[in-house]
Amino acid sequence: MKEMTEGVESFRVAATINPAMVKPERAKEMGFRELEIDPTQNVKRGMASYKKLGAVPAYTCCPFFVYIPRLGEHLGGAESVAVVFNNAFFGARVNRESGPTALAAAVTGRVPEWGMHLPENRYGELLVEIDKGLKPEEFNDADYNAMAYYVGEKSHDRIPVFLGLLPNMDLTQIKYTCAPLGVSAGLPLCHIVGVTPEAPTLQAAFGGRKPLDQLEFGKQELKDAYSHLSSATDERVDAVTIGCPHATLKEIKECARLLSGKNLAPDMRFWIGTVETVRVLAERLGYVETIEKAGGFVVSDMCAHGYFYCRGSFIKKYRIRNVATNSAKAAHYINAAGTAKIWFGSLEKCVKTAISGRWE
Ligand code: F3S
Repeated sequence: MKEMTEGVESFRVAATINPAMVKPERAKEMGFRELEIDPTQNVKRGMASYKKLGAVPAYTCCPFFVYIPRLGEHLGGAESVAVVFNNAFFGARVNRESGPTALAAAVTGRVPEWGMHLPENRYGELLVEIDKGLKPEEFNDADYNAMAYYVGEKSHDRIPVFLGLLPNMDLTQIKYTCAPLGVSAGLPLCHIVGVTPEAPTLQAAFGGRKPLDQLEFGKQELKDAYSHLSSATDERVDAVTIGCPHATLKEIKECARLLSGKNLAPDMRFWIGTVETVRVLAERLGYVETIEKAGGFVVSDMCAHGYFYCRGSFIKKYRIRNVATNSAKAAHYINAAGTAKIWFGSLEKCVKTAISGRWE
């Protein structure tokens, strides 16, 4: 980063920054040791330099909470969640890049003209039909995660077109439909018929062409996805992580409702990661106080679960064996790292588990 920004006075375009591993101001009360916070001060230095160059210090994997792109606007970006969401929900044009190329885009205000920047590459390829036996109006947050994770795995990098989801899907539901696609596949885009701007109809989503392939997503596929994401067998749960990608106000409100007047199980770690603007609103609405009174943390600027797969020392120190989450992305990374076992389920089930200490 230092080399690439030498002699640069400011970024040429709006830029935001991804979350840090920990939030230094709250790290100690969350149990991090001095050594685990920012021993080389590289994070602090990096943050200061980005700010000086004009980046918005949002520290979030959901930059669409702070920067709303226009239909057809060309972006650079390395965060897979933001890439899929910006392409699918706003109809902006962005490839899945690396950190250095995204930084180059901020410095130059230019991106190479390839991939998702070209309209002919944005059409759907794989038709995903939601089976009539499933009722999308009854889907919870984990169902969206499981569905998208499964579809990503089966997509073989073909752009999926979801048919049969609700046209009035909210931000949380779209976030959880987009995020897993960048994890179980390297997909930069999906279409949700009736929701994404380039897919007002099925024909428009495929650009008038025939799908290359199709699959049905039904009860069995949903069940398979849940069992694939859960790796734990022992019912005792040591930690619950919510907010991967960063939690919406709706999710924090639901956590507060479920935790009102309750206490977490002894030694339970219940952490919600979010963006600062949402955290402030949650604080004003009293949700943060309710959750933290019960023993949880609502923390902005940091990755909600990265420490569970990157910080083996943290896991060992607190003997964290089983982690519960409603996020397919979190489950995927923790399972892949093998640092802890996963219980995957709805936000409601995760909060109830944080209270009882058991996955029932
Ligand atoms: Fe965000 Fe960390 Fe998950 S950056 S998407 S909370 S892996």
